[in-house]
Amino acid sequence: MVKTEIWKISDSGHFTQEDRKHLRGAADIIRGGGLVAFPTETVYGLGANALDERAAAKIYEAKGRPSDNPLIAHISSLEELEPLIARFPEAGRRLAETFWPGPVTLIFEKSGRVPYGTTGGLKTVAVRMPSDPAAAELIRLSGVPVAAPSANLSGRPSPTRAEHVRQDLDGRIDLILDGGPVGIGLESTIVDVTEEIPVLLRPGAITMEMLRELLGEVRIDPAILGPVGADARPRAPGMKYRHYAPRAEMTLVEGGSAAVASRIRELVDERQKQGYTVGVICTDETKESYPRGLVRSIGARSDERSVARNLYALLREFDDLGADYIYSEKFSDERLGQAIMNRLNKAAGYRVLKV
Ligand code: TXA
Ligand code: MG
Repeated sequence: MVKTEIWKISDSGHFTQEDRKHLRGAADIIRGGGLVAFPTETVYGLGANALDERAAAKIYEAKGRPSDNPLIAHISSLEELEPLIARFPEAGRRLAETFWPGPVTLIFEKSGRVPYGTTGGLKTVAVRMPSDPAAAELIRLSGVPVAAPSANLSGRPSPTRAEHVRQDLDGRIDLILDGGPVGIGLESTIVDVTEEIPVLLRPGAITMEMLRELLGEVRIDPAILGPVGADARPRAPGMKYRHYAPRAEMTLVEGGSAAVASRIRELVDERQKQGYTVGVICTDETKESYPRGLVRSIGARSDERSVARNLYALLREFDDLGADYIYSEKFSDERLGQAIMNRLNKAAGYRVLKV
């Protein structure tokens, strides 16, 4: 057990003297080989020096993460990229110029400077330049690339608030920088640019439509579209684990909105009669359709960003409330919807009921 400090920090990018002191203190911990959770625009990250294998090992231990699941190296300027990679392919260059700083992670061939302890033994390295001002300043002050997975215990939903990090990692890490709730709420888009045609490995706020508009042809890793077998090797090793899982058994109900609401009402009644605690994930537009169960709106269908922002907090809330079953409405899988549906499908173990 270590004592986990929690320091508040402004999320506006205008740092007070106190904020600057906290950021310098956090950077000292990272340089000293310790663990600091910090806000990014996507989710909270758990940071350590990416060039120090022993610091990276501490991340795996604190999260209970399988050591073959590689970490993303976070940087704060383009000059910090070149030393980490062997080649800077044209597609990578265009993505970096267009979307960095921002919610996209690029996979490159790694240079000799990046230890295998950070890349899970892979010859490639994942790199991201976050736009969150506190994240950027922390990385800059650290003076090293910062390896950071999402700051949750392995298998739990990613944290979108400092409180989620505290629930999972209190006593396991040195410091949590509390910069308030994150803006996006889903992890970064991951694009592998090591091959001729770039491959989308994880959907996020930089959408497939945006990638294709910039690059032309982009492939999709099959692990995004459906369940992967136990022996499959998805290109982002993390995609093979049953991530983002609530403790409840979750089912997505698909169909016309009236039929979906009616079927979910029946399922809630059945399960409640059996004595179970039942959650319903609906939207601002449909919440009046559900008279029974733990009914929670995930956001507005008219504003998909609100759905992305609330998704993980809602899954955590159902865990806290002891839900045994969760029934959820579905969303379109275009644009940001692709990332939303990817996370909901995984949370549900791809259990979908068509009505
Ligand atoms: O938004 C984000 O990306 C957040 C914030 C903190 O930046 N980080 C994050 O990290 O989501 P993590 O570790 O939870 O997810 C990283 C994913 C995993 O699925 C991992 O397998 C994949 O990136 N990954 C990392 N390095 C890779 C590599 N060299 N090749 C393929 N996939 C890689
Ligand atoms: Mg994660």
